[in-house]
Amino acid sequence: MKGLPGFRDFYPEPIPTADSWSLDLRRYIFDTWRGTAERYGFREYDGPPIEELDLYTKKSGDEIVGQLYNFTDKGDRKVSLRPEMTPTLARMAAAHTRNYKKPIKWFSIPQLFRYERQQKGRLREHFQFNADIIGEEHLAADAELIALLIDTLRDLNLTSDDFVVRLSSRCAWQDFFGNGGGQEKDANDFYQIIDKLEREDPAVSGDKLAKLGFSLEQVNEFIESGQPTDELANILANIEARGLGDFIKIDYRIIRGLAYYTGPVYEAFDKRGKFRAIAGGGRYDHLLKLVSSGKSDLPALGFGMGDVVLAELLKDRDLVPPLGQSLDAFVQIADESLRNASLGLVQQLRQTGLATEYPLLKTKPDKQLKRALELNAKWLVTLDNSTQARVKNLKTRVEQTCLFDEVARIAKANISPATLSL
Ligand code: HAM
Repeated sequence: MKGLPGFRDFYPEPIPTADSWSLDLRRYIFDTWRGTAERYGFREYDGPPIEELDLYTKKSGDEIVGQLYNFTDKGDRKVSLRPEMTPTLARMAAAHTRNYKKPIKWFSIPQLFRYERQQKGRLREHFQFNADIIGEEHLAADAELIALLIDTLRDLNLTSDDFVVRLSSRCAWQDFFGNGGGQEKDANDFYQIIDKLEREDPAVSGDKLAKLGFSLEQVNEFIESGQPTDELANILANIEARGLGDFIKIDYRIIRGLAYYTGPVYEAFDKRGKFRAIAGGGRYDHLLKLVSSGKSDLPALGFGMGDVVLAELLKDRDLVPPLGQSLDAFVQIADESLRNASLGLVQQLRQTGLATEYPLLKTKPDKQLKRALELNAKWLVTLDNSTQARVKNLKTRVEQTCLFDEVARIAKANISPATLSL
């Protein structure tokens, strides 16, 4: 039996085929996400993978609603797998805003589900790094999140030659739409057309715009003018002050497809234009109020970064680090009469925190050595008798003899064998 289309199996390295997904690569990405978020002072949260359907139908916007994995549960509740994290975050935060000092800086790494047409960079499940700030209306918070987004990608060794954050403003588009005679009820449809401009046939976009009273030329002119609003100039100055100016540019082609955005919005793309968006986000100042039916009203903003495009990009740029297994010690059992003593040693090494392997069954010593090398073990440990061991550094091949109780200390200290008395 095969897995469902658009859902991934993650294998440990070495992966079985070139296009298999690597759990080690996933872990490398998650560890980097966590590391950068924590350096920026963000705290981790999580929520349920299933929510009431209403949470999305009322708040996310048509595009995502059309992609919901929804069903009626056994208690006759209309529910959906989460297609994004932001409504859950808004619900959770709105329920307990009093318990937390503002601004709230939280991050999460949820698995999300969207019933999308499967294509390059888009699957039916993905993991998404979400970082959000709640309770701060100043643009300093928008800049802080953009800096976090940039630094997360830099921590994966991507440079300003690899990606750019395209910064735009819903407010600027709102003004354009309002000043051009657009009707409030059509605003979302208008944003959707702009969001799809780069992917849609221009004639189709032109027709759709005409129905709302706009022309494609008018829209393109606005995009090309590219002048930063005061808001955006403020964010740019903040990002430049951090020395990150090369990573960002104003680009009004960005507007974001989701309905709830209210202010500055942005997306990160690879500079060669080979992939879909790596990340996207912005300000959504009314969502908490909407989700809590007015009980909590705090400004909020954040971004989401998916693992799918990111993994493809890292592979494309040769930025995937060596990922195979690595062990601290392999305990070789050359003499089966020492198996119990060796098990005692394995236990001791593991208890001191060393990743340790050994042969489960009687195995020829040369096979054991081969296995130790395959597993990338740093040390090969062999008991000579119940009190004495040989500890060999598998890289330098230098070996020393020591007492049983000293093995852990030697392996743990990772002392350079050259400095050991042989
Ligand atoms: P989004 O633009 O829908 O935003 O998704 C953010 C990122 O998740 C995308 O740029 C892409 O990398 C990845 N992504 C989205 N859908 C898929 C898919 N089907 N397959 C693979 N990757 C995908 C949001 O979800 C917002 N809730 C982000 C946010 C957080 N806004 C404020 N806070």
